[in-house]
Amino acid sequence: MKEDLLSQIANKYASDKGTKIPDDGGNHGPRLHFTTKYSEYMESIRNEKLTILEIGIGSGPSLKMWYDYFPNATIHAIDVDNHANMNNERVTTHICDQSDRVAMFKLMESIGEVDILIDDGSHVIAHQQISLGFLFQYVKKGGQYWLEDLHTSDREVWQGKTLYGYDMSIKEGESTVEVLEDYINTKEMKSAFMTKKEISYLNENIVDMKMFELPKSHWGINKLCYIQK
Ligand SMILES: C[S@@+](CC[C@H](N)C(=O)[O-])C[C@H]1O[C@@H](n2cnc3c(N)ncnc32)[C@H](O)[C@@H]1O
Repeated sequence: MKEDLLSQIANKYASDKGTKIPDDGGNHGPRLHFTTKYSEYMESIRNEKLTILEIGIGSGPSLKMWYDYFPNATIHAIDVDNHANMNNERVTTHICDQSDRVAMFKLMESIGEVDILIDDGSHVIAHQQISLGFLFQYVKKGGQYWLEDLHTSDREVWQGKTLYGYDMSIKEGESTVEVLEDYINTKEMKSAFMTKKEISYLNENIVDMKMFELPKSHWGINKLCYIQK
């Protein structure tokens, strides 16, 4: 079967969102197959003049991927580290902590509303929920919010561990997967990390939420959450 365009581009840049481990002899982690789902929701709009925001830049393969896939999009990306060397005529990187509402407010007031937002940042469950709670107001009506790397919701695996220097321990009932799956079942957001105002906003403005199971990786569960406004 022919690979979708986004997966082909992801694989070209060795992005772990893609489907194929590079055969360059390097020490690569698992491929997460997110692009197969993204394609289903993004292909029909890929030529539009979109505004895209990704949380988490790393060494930049996904920025290159979005740049090629969305030829008319303006792309913003945030990270706690400086990645200004990746800026170009359609890509702007910003230093911003996804758990800091004041910093995110300043940034989003300058960017405005976005069509697509992808959280591939710290993967800390508190950060995932703070970002969703705070940033959803900046997604356009009809826009898409995606949460990647939900394997960090596995309490037993992450108890006492750190990632990017953050404590990844989780209290019962507070993991991002539990919060999102509970929303899917009850249509009511409950999160220890969101304000009451954010929770009401989500309850009033989420049009659809889906949790996708992708092929398991050696990080364990491999879920991707799609939220439509
Ligand atoms: C998995 S990497 C991003 C990979 C990139 N999106 C890709 O697919 O090519 C995660 C990034 O999140 C950044 N990060 C860690 N904590 C963060 C925070 N609190 N706010 C924003 N970014 C953070 C890290 O510095 C790292 O560059």
